[in-house]
Order: sequence, then structure tokens, then C-alpha cells
Amino acid sequence: MEDFSTTTVAINKEETKSLSGNAYTDPEIFKRERYGLFRYLPIMATPVCLLPKKGNYVVSDIASESVIVTRNEKEEIQALANTCRHRGKKLLENDISPVKPQKGLKSIVCPYHAWKYDLDGKLVIARGDQANASFKHLCLRKLQIQESAGLVFYHAYNEQYEQVKNLENILGTLKLNKAKISVRKTYHVAANWKLWTENFLECWHCAPNHPELREVKGFIDQFEAGREDLYVNDAINWGIQAKKKGWIQPVDVDFHVDSNLFHFNTNMPLGGDTLTASKDGKRMGATLGNADGLEGGAIFGCIGPFLFYIAYVDYVVLFTIKPKSVTETDVELIWMTAEDFYASEEELTWLWDTTIQQDIKLVEETQSGVSSLHYISGPFQEDEYRTKGFTSWWKRWNQKQ
Ligand code: FES
Ligand SMILES: [Fe+2]
Repeated sequence: MEDFSTTTVAINKEETKSLSGNAYTDPEIFKRERYGLFRYLPIMATPVCLLPKKGNYVVSDIASESVIVTRNEKEEIQALANTCRHRGKKLLENDISPVKPQKGLKSIVCPYHAWKYDLDGKLVIARGDQANASFKHLCLRKLQIQESAGLVFYHAYNEQYEQVKNLENILGTLKLNKAKISVRKTYHVAANWKLWTENFLECWHCAPNHPELREVKGFIDQFEAGREDLYVNDAINWGIQAKKKGWIQPVDVDFHVDSNLFHFNTNMPLGGDTLTASKDGKRMGATLGNADGLEGGAIFGCIGPFLFYIAYVDYVVLFTIKPKSVTETDVELIWMTAEDFYASEEELTWLWDTTIQQDIKLVEETQSGVSSLHYISGPFQEDEYRTKGFTSWWKRWNQKQ
């Protein structure tokens, strides 16, 4: 991916408006995103708890690109293109969303003509042509792996992303490598992936659309009423409580672009007596890792457009965004908890399962609107500064193509 983060771009009026309609509807633009953007962005393949031993694996799909992430004989994690080097068949299907490690692979055998690869992606048996040494060099294509804060990422960028490394400083105290996946759900969204990312980067739509989120997160009504002072008070009180529990909050980073990748993370007090994001504000399980001080607040952030996270004292939700086609996106939510989490699935997923369905409706209806000939790019309001930052980031990438 060519460096476009440091490019000086004249901030013209178009930069301050939303994207044009074809950014969300044109299959040619989606194709360019596949070639020049998606493959270089960090994709969160799985929490590492699904890869404890050699041979454990997951399959991760973005658009037409499928990747096998597995632990090899030397116990190293590898990301291998899920495309056979013979006729190109997809090797392993992605038809389950495991919450526990899948049975280990000893090798990867293509279901078509039975070529066999080892867990490093090296072709070991080309059926029917064992004497033909010229095949022996064939390997499944490899991508870079980065493991951080108990999560495994892959990408084809030529460097390791600092933002991914830094996730350890943000979520490391949660010890997600020792946590369990309690629930995971995939939601199919009939909209372009960018509309989803834009929605998740602002909460200005929260007051009119998310009554449950409003109950749990005091700041929505405080901001709506122009009472930022109350939010500041809550933040100070939470900070004092957290410190007493020996927990040091990660440093807030607001929307920022470096190495072509945007990211942010913010500490958010929940306000009042709310300890965690549950229906009654009370805990639903033991502390995740060593993050006792998170009680009464949350850490919210993202790394690029495809991974958002929100962490509370007793659970974390990972939101992975997976473009499928120009107007289809899968959004997967993974709820992780400590081993001794005691609430029901319904209680655990209540807030974000409800909120996400409200967002799906908004985003799908926005897709209808931007597909109309009557759509014209619109201005951003002040609270949408992250969404504006994202659209500027995307425009800069697009101009470089
Ligand atoms: S396509 Fe895989 S062995 Fe033929
Ligand atoms: Fe929302």
C-alpha cells in the first residue's frame, strides 16, 4: 500500500462532506478496495484462545479473500491463503463460528484433487505427480501475523502495525488470552461496509435511536443536554475509584492516522451507580483479567475500519466488520468473559444485540438513501468528527488510486 497518510491534501469543501453515492454502490470501487486497501489493513482473525495447540485453526473471509490462521508444528501462528495452488479451490470452509478450539489439523488436504500441504503451507504431496519435482516449491501464500492483547491479526502490509502492537497497552490488562468466548453472532447487513464504519465512529445518532444504550451510558443524555460538566465529574470520580483499585487507565488517543491507518481509544465513565453495561448496572461475572478498575467505566476504540472494541469490567465485545460485496457486509460480535462468568447469554448480549439491530436498520436505510439519484453529499456536525476523519482518510486513499 502506497503511503498516503503524509500527503498534503488541499482541504477543499468536498473534504468536509460525506462521500459521494458511488463510493457505496459502485462495484468497480469495491474491486479497487479489495486490491488496494482491504488486503493491507489489519484483520482480526480470532482471539488467540482458539489457537492453543498446533493444528488449531480458524478461517477468516473478507470479500473474496479467505485466509486460514493456524498454529504450525513449531507452535507458531501462520496466516495462509485459503486457495489451492493447483486449480485454486478453497481449501477449508468457513461454516462455523467456534467458541472453543476446533480439532487440530495435521495437514491441509484439498478436497478437489487431494493435494496436501503442511501447516506451514508447503506442498508435501501433489497426488499423481509425486515424481514431478517441479511442484515441490509450491506453497500457499503467506500473510503477516501480529498477535497483541490476546488477539490475532493478519495483513499483507510490509511492516508490523504499531497500532496493533499498542493494543497491548490498551487491552492488555484484560488478559484476553486467558478469557473465553461466551457468545459470538454474525449479522448480515445489506449495506456497504463504509456506512457501517461511519455509523460506529459517531454516537450523535445514539440519543434518538438507542434507548437501551441511553439507559446504560449516562453520557448520551448528558451530552444531549449540553451538560459535559457532569460527564467530566463522572470521569474524575471513576478515575479516583480506578486508581484505588490499582488500575492505570490507558492513555486516550483520539481519532488519529499513522502508517495509513486510523485508530482511537477512549476511557468512558458509565456514570451513577452503573458498574458495567448490564440491564441493572450490576456485574454479571468476575473481573476480566486484572481490570478491576474498569468497574464503572468502559474502554471504547478501534484499529482501522474493521475492528471496534468495547471493554467493561466483566466482559468485552469485539465488533469485526467484514465486507462481502459492495452492498453486503457481515458484522460479527464476539462477547468474551472470564471463565467464571455467571449470567445467561440473554443478559450478556442484551445491550449490544439490541443496539446492533437498531444500527443495522439505520445503516440499511442509509444504503437505500445513498443509492438514490437524489442523494447529495451532506455536511458533518461537530460530534461526527471521527466519521469525518474516516471519510477524509478514505478520500485520500481513493485519490491516490
Ligand atoms: S484444486 Fe486443489 S488439488 Fe486440485
Ligand atoms: Fe448506533
